[in-house]
Amino acid sequence: MAIKIDGKALAAKVKARVAAEVAVLPRRPGLAVVLVGEDPASKVYVNGKEKDCAECGIRSFGHKLPEETTRQELLDLVHQLNQDPEVDGILVQLPLPRHLDEKEIIRAIAPEKDVDCFHPVNVGLLSIGEPMFLPCTPAGVMEMLREYHIPVSGKRCVVLGRSNIVGKPMAMLLTQANGTVTICHSKTEELASYTCQADILVSAVGKTNFVTADMVKDGAVVMDVAMNRNESGKLCGDVDFAAVESKASYITPVPGGVGPMTRAMLMQNLLTAAKLHQNLK
Ligand code: GUN
Repeated sequence: MAIKIDGKALAAKVKARVAAEVAVLPRRPGLAVVLVGEDPASKVYVNGKEKDCAECGIRSFGHKLPEETTRQELLDLVHQLNQDPEVDGILVQLPLPRHLDEKEIIRAIAPEKDVDCFHPVNVGLLSIGEPMFLPCTPAGVMEMLREYHIPVSGKRCVVLGRSNIVGKPMAMLLTQANGTVTICHSKTEELASYTCQADILVSAVGKTNFVTADMVKDGAVVMDVAMNRNESGKLCGDVDFAAVESKASYITPVPGGVGPMTRAMLMQNLLTAAKLHQNLK
């Protein structure tokens, strides 16, 4: 039976660590959270991030803009936040309404305030092993592996999904930790032949019960990054938890696994940004 990795408890520990460091900074850090439109899931995420800030002693500046916000209005706000010395981090909640170009908006954020680690400069720095910030979800997964003393070096790691936000940076962090990494995706043929070899399997697909027990090696570590809703509206991951739990050595639940860690790592990035802006290390 697998050990269940407690993301909620570890996130609380990370946030307590951040709060302790924030408390002794000369200036209180600030996060600008920009939400455009009425996406209900985004509203929940944004509220969660503002609550995390409060817990860590970080100021949050909410900018809730109407659905009809124009490209220029949003760019003007980002430029203003880039200049604002009270703002250490800028988070533009995705997805944006369809008339706005997410790539353009992300590129407009000053890289040294890009606490999501989405800007091409930060993705580039990460890829050469000189990160300014770490991408929150993959960093959360790495922190969980560290906390549970799960070795990555030399291990076969399989990442399901190749998104810019999770799959690709996850593969990068695992590679930098000396894992031997394979990225699988929707076009991968004979998927199970890869997953069955994985010592560490990270799933970021977005499909309920996508990872079944026959796809998992005995004793594997299974990290479930997805946040899906099943037919009855219940929050669940990609992994058929009940079946895989009896085969894996470690497993993350959904909810209470990677999700809270993603939020905690955002607070960690805020602290990094604040230190950077206050010329501290
Ligand atoms: N939408 C879903 N996850 C995220 C995230 O981590 N950051 C931002 N900005 N938007 C998101």
